[in-house]
Amino acid sequence: MRWIDGLEATAAERLPAAVHRYFRQGSAGGISAGEAVTAWSSYRFRPRVLTDVSTVGTSTTVLGTPVDGPVLVAPTTLQRLADPGGEAAMAAGVATARSLLGVSSNAGTTYAEIGATGAPWWLQIYLTRNRDITVRMLDAAVAAGARAVVLTADTPVVGRKEDDGPTVWQAVGPGDLRANLDAELYSDEDLAKADDLTPDVIGWLGERTGLPVVVKGVLRGDDAQRCVAAGAAGLIVSNHGGRQLDGAIASAHALPEVVEAVAGTGTEVYVDGGIRRGEHVLAALALGARAVFVGRPALWALTADSSAGVTRLLTDLYAELAHALTLVGVPHPDDLTPDLVVPSPL
Ligand code: FNR
Repeated sequence: MRWIDGLEATAAERLPAAVHRYFRQGSAGGISAGEAVTAWSSYRFRPRVLTDVSTVGTSTTVLGTPVDGPVLVAPTTLQRLADPGGEAAMAAGVATARSLLGVSSNAGTTYAEIGATGAPWWLQIYLTRNRDITVRMLDAAVAAGARAVVLTADTPVVGRKEDDGPTVWQAVGPGDLRANLDAELYSDEDLAKADDLTPDVIGWLGERTGLPVVVKGVLRGDDAQRCVAAGAAGLIVSNHGGRQLDGAIASAHALPEVVEAVAGTGTEVYVDGGIRRGEHVLAALALGARAVFVGRPALWALTADSSAGVTRLLTDLYAELAHALTLVGVPHPDDLTPDLVVPSPL
């Protein structure tokens, strides 16, 4: 069995059942969470033959930051429940793999500890109703070296999880979630997610931080254009790992529309959700993504083997991508074109 395929089972043995369920679950009926991987596997390749693939490489850049492979770690909360080192352990694994990570606005490690690992990182933000809270987090993240702000746009409210029995929240202490703000200074109302976001917030985030802004959770071409018109430097095509609107289109199937809508604008498009293999990465890049993010696999790897597990996950996926590039007849991700991919005729 592939090492990556055994990770979740190893993590499940180590984690309390409620934590494992929280990491794994989707919202409501679990339709979007359940079909994410299958959606990637629904593409078929049209490989080129008789091309020179004697030297294949995976290194690239994301918003100017060099990475050894176009596989990045998605922002996920509660990483201290996976490993006592939390986000800093995740970042250390990412640094060794020369990748990049998104850091959740609900992180359990300070930005300074994450920055100290040397891993390039982007701050993910949920705008809070009390904007002062967001401002403090932005300022702290800039001071600790964040290279971009990721605005998660698909979460005006948190998707409904249909739990019975103990929930993850019984295992969570305040420091596991909000290491980067003095939560006791604020009311629950202050900390609630802003549900009245408009594209103006993209410009505001850019001005406040001086950093590029990436909008996460875009699934439509028209929304992609609104974000770019408002100043977004990047977009993450995502349905939040099937944890927001259940039944939302798979990111694998939304990607082509978004890429087409922003073609020629210089916007970098990324995608996450259900990426588990080098061939999935290959399909995403051929369809126009600059890089992909992995969420749950990174949590399983962190649980199974701390930083070393995260490094191995990423470097194994780079290696699988290099192998798939060789077989599709293309030496480097920059040379991939959409004609290499078709929906399965079956
Ligand atoms: C997430 N995700 C997420 N996204 C975000 O913008 N902020 C967050 O705090 C979190 N937290 C979070 C926790 C857990 C346990 C999961 C599984 C996911 C969504 C995440 O960034 C990403 O979109 C998906 O995880 C990608 O799908 P895969 O790779 O998990 O299939």
